[in-house]
Amino acid sequence: MSTKIAVAKGDGIGPEIMAAVLRIFEAANVPLEYEYVEMGKSYFDAGHSTGMTPAAKETIERLGLLFKGPMETPKGKGVKSINVTARKVWNTYANQRDFRSLNGVDTVFSKAGIPINLTIVRENIEDTYGGIEHLLTNDVAVGRRIITRPGSAQVIRYAFEMARRKGYTKLACGHKANIMKLTDGMFLETFYEIAKEFPDIESSDIIVDDLCMKLVSRPEIFQAIVLTNLQGDIVSDLCAGLVGGLGFAPSANIGDNISIFEAVHGTAPDIQGKGIANPTALLLSGILMLRYLGYTTAAAAIENSLLYTLEQGIHTGDFGDKSTPSANTEAFADAVIANLGQVPVKGAVVAQPDMEVKANHDHPTKNKLTVVKKDSKEEIVGVDVFVESNKQPNELAEIAQKKLNENTQLVMISNRGTQVWPTGSIYTELVNEYRIRVEKKDGGEISQKEILHIAGELSEDFKICSVEFLMKFDGKIGYTLAQGQ
Ligand code: NAI
Repeated sequence: MSTKIAVAKGDGIGPEIMAAVLRIFEAANVPLEYEYVEMGKSYFDAGHSTGMTPAAKETIERLGLLFKGPMETPKGKGVKSINVTARKVWNTYANQRDFRSLNGVDTVFSKAGIPINLTIVRENIEDTYGGIEHLLTNDVAVGRRIITRPGSAQVIRYAFEMARRKGYTKLACGHKANIMKLTDGMFLETFYEIAKEFPDIESSDIIVDDLCMKLVSRPEIFQAIVLTNLQGDIVSDLCAGLVGGLGFAPSANIGDNISIFEAVHGTAPDIQGKGIANPTALLLSGILMLRYLGYTTAAAAIENSLLYTLEQGIHTGDFGDKSTPSANTEAFADAVIANLGQVPVKGAVVAQPDMEVKANHDHPTKNKLTVVKKDSKEEIVGVDVFVESNKQPNELAEIAQKKLNENTQLVMISNRGTQVWPTGSIYTELVNEYRIRVEKKDGGEISQKEILHIAGELSEDFKICSVEFLMKFDGKIGYTLAQGQ
């Protein structure tokens, strides 16, 4: 039985590499049928603000699987990247990127005889990719970093399940919880909670800067790593560099209902139309997709042929031995097709039925809302009011104190996260946005109404930039202290 999937050819080199990959699929008798969808730059230009036609959206939501070429985001028109939007709107929460040494693709590590075989699972929806940014004063821009318990749990559970399917014995969580105690802290806490369900997988965590250092010095010690969105983005490109660059980096965006398979690289406008693009990354993404759909025998056959072809020294212009002539996109695809049935000398890939993920495509009738139930006692104990001001901390404190009633007190003032009142250093440099922290004198609860009243009073003297409640959950503070507090 064949499976129908949506295909978007993409922009730039997209149509060239997609044609090459689909030709290889056809030669390998892959049981897929394609519905081509209209997505990409020309659809932005034609006035579709999402970069796709309504028919494309309907097709992708109906079929649940999109195989896509790279797409260009028009610059300077205030539109968001279609690639990021697609991942977020359809909740493809896990971005899986497999990196391994390929014969014929020389890297520092292959030359040193150190094989690389690791997988990065990157959270794909949250973090700074929420794109919630505000200019608070002319000088101060802030972005919100959103990390949620349900979002973290989804991607972390996927990473553990993937590790188990791939026969890995360990999974590491990369993070920066030493600095971002509540956001990365929540991700890390969730990691260890879910780890309890997977006693067969050794779980560990590593601070992301240390992780980067170890990845470039001893990449062989890692099997799989799960990270939040932005850190995962950076670390996965670093890993692409380890195995020969973006031309060899496939990516799967996995969701419960809709999944998207694409290469990591972009539209390569500099070589568009020349017919010289390297189709390997898209082909590797296609192989991931075939595994996802359960076509593991076809996936292994194509992968073996690709590895054999690379082993033979056949290469496009962007990699390989510069002293031998390079193949163009079509010739490279022809070679992979001709080599179907061959196996690489340096280790063949075998079809592993247990690699498949059940493609579970539901058609929900309402948006799924997940709340991690916890009967915690929640109390509001204070407020951070962010204000614009050019005054010195002492002057600011004096004005603020006059605005507070006898039950509330000014606890601290900070600037760029560093405490500047009641104590601080004269050497701390300031910008024109301060945080004024107010709490109840008796340390007790404060109502929303009181908080808004405080902000209202302060607004008589300052422009209010934003207001954040200070909360306690079961007596544990749900906010960070200022540096120096
Ligand atoms: P890029 O990945 O398109 O190109 C970077 C360099 O790598 C260029 O020199 C290019 O020629 C080369 N390159 C990339 N893929 C190649 C391939 N398959 N074969 C041979 N050489 C290859 O990155 P860039 O220039 O930053 O972005 C160009 C456009 O692509 C932008 O509009 C960007 O928004 C878009 N883009 C789309 C992505 C997606 O659809 N997922 C991802 C990244 C960028």
